Amino acid sequence: MAREINTVGVVGLGTMGAGIVEVFARNGIDVLAVEISDAALERGRAVLVGSTDRAVAKGKLAPADRDALLGRVSFEVGLAALRDVDLVVEAVPERLDLKQRLFAELDRVCKPSAILATNTSSLSVTDISVATQRPDQVIGIHFFNPAPVMKLVEVVRTVVTAPEVVAGVEALCGRLGKVDVTINDRAGFIANALLFGYLNQAVTMYEARYASREDIDAAMKLGCGLPMGPLALLDLIGLDTAYEVLDTMYRRGGRDRRHAPAPLIKQMVTAGLLGRKSGRGFYTYAKPGSPALVPDEHTPNATVPAAADGARGIAKVGVVGSGTMATGIIEVFAKAGYEVVSVTRDAEKPEHVREAVKGSLDKAVVRGELTEAERDATLDRVNWSATLEHLADVDLVVEAVAEELSVKQDLFATLDEICKPGVLLATTTSSLPVIKCAMATQRPADVVGLHFFNPAPAMPLVEVVHTIRTSPEALATARAVVAALGRTGVVCADRAGFVVNALLFPYLNDAVRMLEASYSTVDDIDHAMKLGCGYPMGPFELLDAVGLDVALASQRELYREVREPGLAPAPLLEHLVTAGYLGREAGRGFRDHTAR
Ligand SMILES: NC(=O)c1ccc[n+]([C@@H]2O[C@H](COP(=O)([O-])OP(=O)(O)OC[C@H]3O[C@@H](n4cnc5c(N)ncnc54)[C@H](O)[C@@H]3O)[C@@H](O)[C@H]2O)c1
Repeated sequence: MAREINTVGVVGLGTMGAGIVEVFARNGIDVLAVEISDAALERGRAVLVGSTDRAVAKGKLAPADRDALLGRVSFEVGLAALRDVDLVVEAVPERLDLKQRLFAELDRVCKPSAILATNTSSLSVTDISVATQRPDQVIGIHFFNPAPVMKLVEVVRTVVTAPEVVAGVEALCGRLGKVDVTINDRAGFIANALLFGYLNQAVTMYEARYASREDIDAAMKLGCGLPMGPLALLDLIGLDTAYEVLDTMYRRGGRDRRHAPAPLIKQMVTAGLLGRKSGRGFYTYAKPGSPALVPDEHTPNATVPAAADGARGIAKVGVVGSGTMATGIIEVFAKAGYEVVSVTRDAEKPEHVREAVKGSLDKAVVRGELTEAERDATLDRVNWSATLEHLADVDLVVEAVAEELSVKQDLFATLDEICKPGVLLATTTSSLPVIKCAMATQRPADVVGLHFFNPAPAMPLVEVVHTIRTSPEALATARAVVAALGRTGVVCADRAGFVVNALLFPYLNDAVRMLEASYSTVDDIDHAMKLGCGYPMGPFELLDAVGLDVALASQRELYREVREPGLAPAPLLEHLVTAGYLGREAGRGFRDHTAR
């Protein structure tokens, strides 16, 4: 029997609470919105009115529906008003002592049958429940930010939560148009357990000046299709909330150092830089609560072109290799108007590579992106060869041969003998140290990484990797070329995984660990990341697409470089690779693809 819920109260109208009130009222449920002071109540009311007004302005809500929605909400200071509601959702700051005191008070005030729910992101629902005389009626209802938009709700049951309470809350989620996953009480539940290590790592990268805030965010948006970069997301979440979540996850989640909050987060919180809600966090906003970004002293100056730093001119480009990346990169350069020399290892390969590039251009013609004449002109710009000596007069060489260090080092040593002085030599490696390729030549200052993403013709991102020997001119040249290709270049130092893979693969590995621990299922974890965080694919979908062997190799590199215990490849990932379950291509990975 599911418990019936007709009236609800929401306590705390901050970043989450105001949105949660809107979710209930939008779906025809009367809400009592409660705050600690008149000022906080007014702020909460203003957020709700602002949000519904924006929905009306965008044509997503009729004015009459907005008025009806607002008519369902009553605002009160103090908990006494909550005596008759069927459910209370608490959304006060993420501190156990505060929540326990609040729940003890709610227990005294609310009617005996009322369900008491917390929106905590990381605290133990069990710890909160024992502050009441009704722990069986305490549950976690974890909405995602922004609550009116994100489809997912994590329903968190403790060992004592009554089944009819769980059923009642699940039914309520259905009425709210949300998708619920019901899980046990564990630090960070599904989504935050996978998200916060990644967010913290992004802050550590920024703090170490490994890449700029814009570049870190662009890398994850453009490289992984995420709706927001990690630093912009932290600003949305609120740095104070993020600090508390990380701190709790560190203490509850086995003291994984990856959850120990990056020192910069604490400094920002102390300085009052809380993110959007205070008008400034990693970025600066037009005013507190506004999503509109305004330039500040860290904003890159768009009017200074990269060429001002002594970039060399590039007209002719060599691409070495015959695989997917090489053919994609040939297409990208030739389409952008560069003269290209394609060099493969075997005599019969040039024709294969030409066919692959032509096949891809033909598809672009069918899609209407290219005329037949443009396709032919693009192909005419490429010389197809099996002889490295044909690279003697190019200005840039992009190497995309096998991901094996000795193969790449041999190639770089040969290029060093063949190429004219001043040529930019680039590797597309995704996991090997660029400096090792550079040191195979006598000109390490001219060697960079240009990490294209697959499929290169479609992906807008290129990571531009400089080593400790790369000259400023070589870096400027690399940036200018990437810009001329119409790609977003993200500049980063030469560390395992660069920006994207260093942030992506540990998250995927964590998802495998979560599965291994039987905390949740492949489907629910995928759902949680897609519907709770707006990811285009869930971690297991992505692992099956990327290839489990590729993910394992990258994770091993990351682990080898930093020796962080939390980065050790998940045993389940190792076993699946050993068993030949490599993902979609192999017919089976985390899911069976043979029937599709
Ligand atoms: N920010 C997010 O992205 C996010 C996402 C999901 C869940 N959560 C969780 O939601 C909860 C709230 O987080 P937030 O980010 O909205 O915090 P917030 O700081 O933005 O808002 C907290 C609100 O609670 C009010 N408050 C404080 N003490 C109160 C009391 N005793 N009675 C009534 N109101 C009180 C404050 O005035 C403030 O308006 C936390 O448990 C957090 O972990 C946050």
